[in-house]
Amino acid sequence: MLKFIGKQFRQPSGILGRIISTIMEKANSSIYNEVINILNLKDKDKILEIGYGSGQGINKIVKRNKNVKLHGLDFSKLMYEKATRKNSRHIQNNQIELFYGDVTECNTNILYDKILAINVVYFWKHLEDIFNKLYQFLSESGELILFVVPASELNKFKYTNNEAFIKYDIDEIIENLRIVGYQHIKTKKHKTKFEEDFFIIAHKGKSQSV
Ligand SMILES: C[S@@+](CC[C@H](N)C(=O)[O-])C[C@H]1O[C@@H](n2cnc3c(N)ncnc32)[C@H](O)[C@@H]1O
Repeated sequence: MLKFIGKQFRQPSGILGRIISTIMEKANSSIYNEVINILNLKDKDKILEIGYGSGQGINKIVKRNKNVKLHGLDFSKLMYEKATRKNSRHIQNNQIELFYGDVTECNTNILYDKILAINVVYFWKHLEDIFNKLYQFLSESGELILFVVPASELNKFKYTNNEAFIKYDIDEIIENLRIVGYQHIKTKKHKTKFEEDFFIIAHKGKSQSV
């Protein structure tokens, strides 16, 4: 059963997926509140969120700044439908565009100012390949913002003890970012009652806004 629950975090589906996504939405709300400050939103920013889940982050960003353009990509059909419902008004006025697909298979000509992936790296086997792909998607001054629960913390929970989760140390993630060429890589702690997690902010070029 725990293995089945673990898989639902990777790609929510069905009734259990609905329940897990509601739990995630509540549990991760404070992460998104903090990410909005880290994003340092500017008018006309083009932002991409990979693994948007329920779409709460995208919704919060649009509410904070009405002049940004947001794209989202998630490979759960259930999450695509939920996030689409949550953001329907902003989708209609073309401020938000949501896609259903796998980041490992997607491509785009658009250059984004900010790309975020919150609680998604655990499901990526080949970090270097994906970081390299996202590097190509960033504008010259663009930045990648990750939120990660490190291996030491994930090991405390039973539901993460299955093949759905790949547990990474923060140093391993940073090393992969460096290999690809990201610069000015910074971390920011995010403490909750249960664990100590990290934002990782990595820049494509030399500019630093965080
Ligand atoms: C643990 S949930 C996190 C959801 C949300 N970011 C949050 O923190 O509440 C992971 C999300 O990433 C999506 N995801 C995982 N791997 C993906 C991939 N390779 N391409 C696109 N989406 C992916 C899943 O479908 C799921 O919605």
